Amino acid sequence: MKTAARLDFMPVTAQAAPAIHELYLHSPTYIALIGGDTPTLNDIERELETLRQDTRRQALLLFQGEEVIGFLDYKVAYPDLHSATISLLLIDERIQNQGLGKLVVEQLESLLLGRMERLYAVVYGNNEKARQFWMRRGYIHTRDGGPSLSWYMKALT
Ligand code: ACO
Repeated sequence: MKTAARLDFMPVTAQAAPAIHELYLHSPTYIALIGGDTPTLNDIERELETLRQDTRRQALLLFQGEEVIGFLDYKVAYPDLHSATISLLLIDERIQNQGLGKLVVEQLESLLLGRMERLYAVVYGNNEKARQFWMRRGYIHTRDGGPSLSWYMKALT
């Protein structure tokens, strides 16, 4: 797939559950890494309902043209009023390592610039690829939150 210069970020609605489910079905390596079962469609519908109740939470489907390429879940004004925190960036495993994750992060940073001072990324589990990915984007390891959470941070200037 040719990497587009720009991706579209579409806020998810309940109707997006099947598309998100598809993404998880196509991400077996990540599911194995976090040591869980692939979420069912019903799990995702319930998760979207939970997300909807938190107005600071931004759950977005990521499109390249007509095609869903990933999912992004972040929260503004968290953990403090001037910061935002990414809890999950998931790119469809079939199209990873083509520059799409990098593009998402660059677009999100531009979107938040002037509104938030810092962007955090919280890496769950023993996810070395993700750690390297954030560090190469200029994120600095700030702290570990318990045995399985690592926080990375970049100042948005
Ligand atoms: N062709 C080949 N490689 C390229 C291209 C290209 N056209 N363009 C860029 N690259 C390089 C990038 O430069 C990058 O290398 P670098 O990090 O040394 O600079 C490397 O490919 C990987 O970058 P991307 O391709 O942009 O990354 P990807 O699209 O694979 O997304 C991500 C990274 C999100 C970690 C993805 O692998 C993924 O979804 N993994 C599973 C879920 C996961 O672990 N998510 C992160 C959890 S932590 C969190 O979300 C806060």
